Amino acid sequence: MDEIIVTGGTPLAGRVQISGSKNGTLPLLAASLLIDGETVLDNIPDINDVNVMIEMLRALGAKCEFIAPTTLKIDASTVNSVSAPYDLVRKMRGSFYVAGPLLSRFGECEVPLPGGCVIGSRPVDYHIEGFKVLGAQVVERHGVMRAQASRLKGTRIFMDPRSRSVGATVNLMLAASLAEGTTIVENASREPEVVACQEFLRAAGADIEGIDTATVRIRGVARLGESRAAVIPDRIEAGTFLYAAATAGGDVTLQAARVQDLEFVLDVLRRAGAGITTGPDWIRLRAVGRPLPVDIMTAPFPGFPTDLQPTHGVLAAIARGTTIIEETIFDARYNYTDELTRMGAHIRIVDSAAIIKGQPRLYAAPVEATDIRAGAALILASLVAEGQTEISGAEFLDRGYQNIEGKLKGLGAEIVRRGTGSGERNLCLA
Ligand code: UD1
Repeated sequence: MDEIIVTGGTPLAGRVQISGSKNGTLPLLAASLLIDGETVLDNIPDINDVNVMIEMLRALGAKCEFIAPTTLKIDASTVNSVSAPYDLVRKMRGSFYVAGPLLSRFGECEVPLPGGCVIGSRPVDYHIEGFKVLGAQVVERHGVMRAQASRLKGTRIFMDPRSRSVGATVNLMLAASLAEGTTIVENASREPEVVACQEFLRAAGADIEGIDTATVRIRGVARLGESRAAVIPDRIEAGTFLYAAATAGGDVTLQAARVQDLEFVLDVLRRAGAGITTGPDWIRLRAVGRPLPVDIMTAPFPGFPTDLQPTHGVLAAIARGTTIIEETIFDARYNYTDELTRMGAHIRIVDSAAIIKGQPRLYAAPVEATDIRAGAALILASLVAEGQTEISGAEFLDRGYQNIEGKLKGLGAEIVRRGTGSGERNLCLA
């Protein structure tokens, strides 16, 4: 495990390049398994979750080769296994995405059920129910889901509107692409990563209507063709850097960021007092003094993303007043608040709400990251804290942020990484 060491108090200034989206890459890598030929994906981020998924494709028999630093060529004509190794599913829940494509293309799959997760209960029951509704025989035994169907049959799938699922929407769309007949997914997620996956499938020859709406209609085709696509910029990484500037102070411009994916977040940051200007592929944030408190409630897109709730928590911790945050998606997503409290934050959790009384300053302390976004929140807190903060659990950040300390250093932060050489931990997706 590595530690990240930050000396707080330096405002951020300059430009930072946003990498390809983690949550956008994983569905496209899984989708490549539907194609009996080559897929080329550009703008692949160099992060651990993506590398685990590439390992998964290789374990199933696909050939994966980087033909440029961020361009991956996948040949899935050589896939010779429908069993996903437990070791890879254990490392990353997103690897469950291979279930839909394997079942749809090969008529069967064996995928271990992902285990628990530190940010809350994360079942895959919507995925499994959806496979059943599409006509698959599904057995869950000894921690493994085995599904079979000579060919999936299109039908209407109702997702629960109270908890829309990004993962289930993606998995079921992938499964439906090669099914017989038409599948209609009602209450589908509309996250930009879902839309990017729909566009990829359409470019590969899938017949999809209702892209970017809550009712997606997929007419199954016999085969998908070779395709090339670029991964969209990571809106959560972009949001993290905007929050870093809003919290630590300064003037930061994001390059290769999509404004349309961040409208709600930009509105929240404006209300917190930040000056924001945007262009076609850039966003500039100028911080003006201590932020104002802004209440938020997390919600599916286009609402406020749960993945940025912890960074908003840090902003709230130093705001000029009291903030109420309501987390509606993951039941244990306040795990970062205990560590933040050790740095001087005043936070009270009541059911799904966090009541945060802003303080004029935070103080350095040894703290521990417990998931990707909690780790990002602790880095942000350490940028503004007085003194030197040591954050253990840096491997969580490596799962979702490409070179976060290098990028922050480029903006003037005093940040270094120290290897401690101790072992791997059980990880979970966010
Ligand atoms: C994805 C994102 C994650 C983000 C989350 C919510 C990826 C790789 N990860 O995770 O970063 O925080 O969306 O925007 O894209 N649920 C069930 N049963 C299911 C599936 C989900 O009850 O079968 C519940 C979950 O427990 C949660 C809610 O639905 O309360 C939303 O989860 P979901 O959208 O599926 O999250 P992920 O796809 O796992």
